[in-house]
Amino acid sequence: TPTPTPTSFAVEFKPVAKTNANAVTVPDGYVAETLFAAGDAVVPGATAWSQGAFLTSDQTEKVAGGNHDGMHYFTLPHILPNEGGLLAINHELPDFNILLPGVAAGTTPNPATLTTEQRKIVLSAVGISVIEVRKASDGKWSVAKDSTYNKRYTGNTVYRVGGPASGVIGSTVIGMLNNCASGATPWGTYLTCEESTDNYLDPTQPAQGYGWVVEIDPQGQLAEPTKRTAMGRFDHENVDFMTDQNNRIAFYMGDDGTPGCIYKFIPSRAYAPSNRAANTDLLDNGTLYVARFNANGTGEWRELTHGKNGLVAGAVDPGNTSQGATTPATVNFNNQADVLINTKAAARVAGGTVMDRPEWITVAPDKKSILCTLTNNSGRQVVDAANPRIRNLHGHIIKWKEANDSPLATSFTWEILLLAGDPSLAAGGANLTGNIVGDTFSSADGIRIDPQNRLWVQTDHSVPGNSGLAGTTIDQAFGNNAMFYIDQTSKKSTRFLVGPTGCEITGIAYTPDLTAFFVNIQHPTSNWPEAGKQARSSTVVVRRTDGKPVGA
Ligand code: FEO
Ligand code: CA
Ligand code: CA
Ligand code: CA
Repeated sequence: TPTPTPTSFAVEFKPVAKTNANAVTVPDGYVAETLFAAGDAVVPGATAWSQGAFLTSDQTEKVAGGNHDGMHYFTLPHILPNEGGLLAINHELPDFNILLPGVAAGTTPNPATLTTEQRKIVLSAVGISVIEVRKASDGKWSVAKDSTYNKRYTGNTVYRVGGPASGVIGSTVIGMLNNCASGATPWGTYLTCEESTDNYLDPTQPAQGYGWVVEIDPQGQLAEPTKRTAMGRFDHENVDFMTDQNNRIAFYMGDDGTPGCIYKFIPSRAYAPSNRAANTDLLDNGTLYVARFNANGTGEWRELTHGKNGLVAGAVDPGNTSQGATTPATVNFNNQADVLINTKAAARVAGGTVMDRPEWITVAPDKKSILCTLTNNSGRQVVDAANPRIRNLHGHIIKWKEANDSPLATSFTWEILLLAGDPSLAAGGANLTGNIVGDTFSSADGIRIDPQNRLWVQTDHSVPGNSGLAGTTIDQAFGNNAMFYIDQTSKKSTRFLVGPTGCEITGIAYTPDLTAFFVNIQHPTSNWPEAGKQARSSTVVVRRTDGKPVGA
């Protein structure tokens, strides 16, 4: 029986100042403790990474991958929900510096120089980790090292292929890649998103085998990990869902392309709330839609089904017109597999709006709003109402509301929640200043409205990066990448956490009572989390020393 969360609480914490400190900085009364770093043991008995040592591919298959990104906390039937559970954690990229000799933190070796064994090592460091985590009596969290739930799914693992494109791709694919952000289903499976549509390390693998949402049951009871092709192939960022009173469900997804579209997928049938197994393969049948944002504040979901909305043989793809002149291309959609394998083109043919790099999407618990971070698009040359800034260096956040607050809606209304940037950059041009009230930021990426309807935003401005103002780096303008609380009414932004040097802040998960927040520190570059040792991407637990909920 889940522990009820408090009915409501105001958000109150002492804001953190912007900083370039090589540390995780949190408000007074909070601690941020490293839980799970790249190279830590996952499978019981595994040999963990240690400073100065390099593991074999057999060993790296059993330890944490790198570049921790999206994640989700799942409760377990036999443990009180706030005392322990499973964390499923994406590994977007390897932390090459701990895998291969002579590679500096934050840099990537030339793939052409790698041996077969080194390629296997590198591919072992992407995918996901599933770890059981437990809270001790002093409130501190740790990995249950002996748990039989602890498991790796990597770039070398074999995945099932489900849905309409399986006939083209084949019934299995080796590897999943660029596991960026993620989501979960109401039946307790993890949806991990491939942000790459090709296998950059193994050209012998079929190109259509990547760029999918992969469903994995962290408890290992349902189907084997499966690429769900009905949900479309593109540079998937994350997934969030909305349900209705009849247990119908929609999954919302962004294509982090430059630019890319926003999608939703509606399974053909309702999900079964009390029978997990009945939902196996629910994601193989349904309808995919792309969002069109009209200038008058209305929007439409356009169906991406073969034979509809121009999705026929000889269709004309206008290309990414927002980046300047393009040459239209002819695309043949002969069946639904063609639509799903070439989803980006299908979306443009159907009239989807190409957005300034859709990163995370979050659905409010009251179902009255859905938010998406549009991280940035410095190459935009042609604006539209939903993407109103040329050379959009700092990005914006868009919000929409489904007709009748229904996941099955085919229309919506929308507005821009905020434009990122900072008034101190005004000399660099008006499109750099933004309209954030309070603590400013650039390049929102992670976003989540928690069960208390509180909005959290995490940033990924690239480091080293351009603030838009000559002589001012982006880290000088905004501090290191950080996490913010944003009041959805006043739009006031308050800085909650700042990451160490070179990292991006990503991944938001929490216990049901919100006393523990799990946050990922991705690609730190300077001897963090341990002084004097290689930098390692890590999951940290942020909690209050008095044990009360975060932000309460
Ligand atoms: Fe992997 Fe779009 O961030
Ligand atoms: Ca990243
Ligand atoms: Ca991201
Ligand atoms: Ca990003």
